[in-house]
Amino acid sequence: MAKILIGISGSIAAYKTILYLRELRKLNHQCRVILTTGGAQFVTANLIAALGCEVYCDQTLDFTKAEQAMLHIDLAKWAERFVIAPSSAHTLAKLAHGFADNLLTQAVLAYDATTQPIYLTPAMNQQMWHNPATQANLQLLKERNFTIWEPASGLQACGDNGTGRMLEAEQLVMLTEQTLAKPILTGKKIIITLGATVEAIDPVRFISNHSSGKMGWALINAALARGAQVIALCGKLAIKLPTHPHLQQIETLSADDMLTSALIQATDADMIVACAAVADYKVVNYAPQKIKKKSERITLELTKNPDIISTVKQQFPQLIGIGFAAETENLIEHATNKLKTKGLDLIIANDVSEQQIFNHDTTKVSIIEQSGTTQELNGSKKQVAEKIFEQLESLLCKI
Ligand code: C5P
Repeated sequence: MAKILIGISGSIAAYKTILYLRELRKLNHQCRVILTTGGAQFVTANLIAALGCEVYCDQTLDFTKAEQAMLHIDLAKWAERFVIAPSSAHTLAKLAHGFADNLLTQAVLAYDATTQPIYLTPAMNQQMWHNPATQANLQLLKERNFTIWEPASGLQACGDNGTGRMLEAEQLVMLTEQTLAKPILTGKKIIITLGATVEAIDPVRFISNHSSGKMGWALINAALARGAQVIALCGKLAIKLPTHPHLQQIETLSADDMLTSALIQATDADMIVACAAVADYKVVNYAPQKIKKKSERITLELTKNPDIISTVKQQFPQLIGIGFAAETENLIEHATNKLKTKGLDLIIANDVSEQQIFNHDTTKVSIIEQSGTTQELNGSKKQVAEKIFEQLESLLCKI
């Protein structure tokens, strides 16, 4: 796991950095933190240390101690990745002009950024962000070895609405992981279906399934982290997917829409991962007006939906196909049948009998290969997605 140096400068967004650090620690990264005097106005060194990170603050440094005298150089040499989150307008200005007036700016100057840039995640009021001085500083930094993880737009702590919100912890983790991953999927296009399809009965009712989209999101992350171009075909989701330059999100609520999009995208894709919970049936006669509850009973005539992954695999057999099988009994037997009948390369079997999977962050799966080799995994959906993609590496080499 990587050695990550994180600078925290003065901004209210520092609270997000705590969540970011917590996630990095869960992923077993080693984290050292430089907390500026400004940063310490928002989060404490104790809080950071409690997450298992070594933390250094200007106020508590003692340069008469030999081990601290060269700390800025030692930290810069130790770091495999260097992220400054949040980067305040003041810190950005100092970095743009080579100031070295605190441990953080000294470490930046001492860091060899020729192989890995320093990642800056600005956070400030929208007016400060648009200020020509800030924009000129950003331009200077971009021309040097800094990568800016651009802030998002939205409501700000001060009440303004505009650009300057630091990215969320989840996005920072994703971007950090991406800097660490081997880009084995660069140039590859992967379709991922996720969420639950929605089959309309009338303008207000529908048939659907349980599915939050969390497993799909974990898979998208794992693919993006490996450099892939991802097309997310989204049914109904309980989560909002963050944006990413290599991610295209297409809303495909019904199974028919999802299939149409999948077939269009499949023409130049390399892989399809079907994680969506597709409704098995749709209504035969959609009612264009809301059905009134006049009678005690009504009967809906249903017809089978097309099987998305099977159809894609039939029309594009060269595509690698990965499916999921949510089962309540005879897990391996049913999943293996689906692997064969749908013509898949890999199937991930979920035991959903205990209802501990839907909308949870953890899952328990068995990955079944065509040869019958089965691997059981239990953990966060993120860990499971990582394992699935690790397993896929051998399949991907054949693309
Ligand atoms: O047949 P079953 O729904 O259990 O199959 C599950 C797998 O097939 C999942 O990967 C799911 O996304 C995919 N599927 C599909 N189109 C359907 C039904 C399921 O692509 N109509």
